[in-house]
Amino acid sequence: MFPDVRLRRLRKGKIRNLVRETTLSVDDLVQPIFVNETIDSAVEIPSMPGIYNIPLSEVANEAKEIAELGIPAVIIFGVPAFKDAEGSSSYGETDVVQEAVRRVKAELGDELVVITDVCMCEYTSHGHCGIVDFETKEILNDPTLDVLGKIAVSHARAGADMVAPSCMMDGMVEAIRQALDMNGFENIPIMSYAAKYHSCFYGPFREAAESGYSFGDRSTYQMDPANGNEALREVTLDVAEGADIIIVKPALPYLDIIYRVKTDYGMPTAAYNVSGEYSMIKAAAANGWLDEKKAVYESLISIKRAGADIIITYFAKDAARMLK
Ligand code: PBG
Repeated sequence: MFPDVRLRRLRKGKIRNLVRETTLSVDDLVQPIFVNETIDSAVEIPSMPGIYNIPLSEVANEAKEIAELGIPAVIIFGVPAFKDAEGSSSYGETDVVQEAVRRVKAELGDELVVITDVCMCEYTSHGHCGIVDFETKEILNDPTLDVLGKIAVSHARAGADMVAPSCMMDGMVEAIRQALDMNGFENIPIMSYAAKYHSCFYGPFREAAESGYSFGDRSTYQMDPANGNEALREVTLDVAEGADIIIVKPALPYLDIIYRVKTDYGMPTAAYNVSGEYSMIKAAAANGWLDEKKAVYESLISIKRAGADIIITYFAKDAARMLK
């Protein structure tokens, strides 16, 4: 009595490489960068060891280092010097993201794809992702759409190659598409945070981007982690509104969503391996509880296996070095 089929035959030596189903390439990666208008030199983010808030004066160099590692794209987040209730420092010609984009494009041109996060939370004094009615404490959907259009157009004018709306307002993709088209940016793609969950794993990001909120939480606009079908409804709408790439966020706790989105829509699909996912591995590795490199590779290959084409990850530079 011997087993007829022995799967272990293919697990040995280089045969293992031949039958590998999924690969991780530097071309899959997007490195997030935090550009802070209020600092003169880089400041490490305490909850994200190895990730820095950088001043405008260093953004071109940082982008160059990323491009030299072969990483095709960055996503830029801005920390402004000035915040008000309307987030009015988010769409000015010389505001932080616009300035950062211009500097990166001047340095690198087509060598690096520059994506910008389109949201209000970093720019509002209350920290919410939209316009607030202070009497009812409601985050107002439709007035926010006008601002998003302005932000997206200002980023495109500065030279952004792609915009990524992350505020989870209904109709955000259509509003941005129309604003871009009306201003001559019909060829700028929209990478939509379509299925963005109300996740505790964004905690370290909020420290990094100084975008914590002063009242309530984001559960009136971000999705309930208990829901899967609702993610597909979000994606259906964003595809109909003209999204070019769909983002699922976070990544590791939502691999089922990545799989369903990729399988059902066949859209270019990105997964955002968020700040808390980064911090968990860093903290465990710092304690000697996990092998950092192996944990990073296993996380990223699993996100690919689930169906992601693109991974936005704070580990992009590390992974690029590992893959060399
Ligand atoms: C802005 C935005 C957030 C993240 C990306 N864009 C924060 C949030 O929604 O609270 C989170 C990214 C991360 O945690 O790495 N709305």
